[in-house]
Amino acid sequence: MKKIVILISGRGSNMEALIAARDAGDLPVNIAAVISNRVEAEGLETAARSGIVTHFVNHKAFPGREAFDARLADCIDQFEPDLVVLAGFMRILSEGFVRHYGGRLINIHPSLLPAFPGLHTHQRALEEGVRIHGCTVHFVTPELDHGPVIIQAAVPVLDGDDEASLAARVLRQEHQIYPRAVRWFLEGKLHLENGRVRLDESLADSAVLVSPEIR
Ligand code: GRF
Repeated sequence: MKKIVILISGRGSNMEALIAARDAGDLPVNIAAVISNRVEAEGLETAARSGIVTHFVNHKAFPGREAFDARLADCIDQFEPDLVVLAGFMRILSEGFVRHYGGRLINIHPSLLPAFPGLHTHQRALEEGVRIHGCTVHFVTPELDHGPVIIQAAVPVLDGDDEASLAARVLRQEHQIYPRAVRWFLEGKLHLENGRVRLDESLADSAVLVSPEIR
């Protein structure tokens, strides 16, 4: 069975969605380890409760980004994963790290990239007054929150929304699309061509855009 390693920094709800998909039989995968750069990440306990190996690699213990990334890569590589899954991992990764995992490192971002890279995406979407917002799963490249898009889910921005309500609506979609993207990758259904993702012919085009739910 294919192996993944999941990197987290906090709550770990996307990681939980992956575990739930695995447990439901929708995602045949060996979640070999969950690694956090923060010891207090709630997701570490959740993973351990599910019987998954957990590791803590403290970024504060290293003199710089490269040194931390090298240790992190060592930790990841002992599990020989087919795919490394960033799920709320709040560290900027060095170019060397990203290149080491070229084509097998993915991230979920809470906006419809390329809109709103970086932090505070929901607040910024509200401030801009956009009517459609959402989330994106993409391959990671050295440029932050860029990289070939795999799947996106869109949600409406409603007049009554605040940051919390919008974030919750987006998060429900994150939990839908991330397991799907991981499954496609592991099934060999994602092909990188000239910096873009081409889907396997067995997947309908409609599979990669989950469009607005109004609630
Ligand atoms: C999610 O919104 C994800 O898109 C972003 O960080 C958040 C992590 O949430 N990268 P969780 O830890 O998965 O609950």
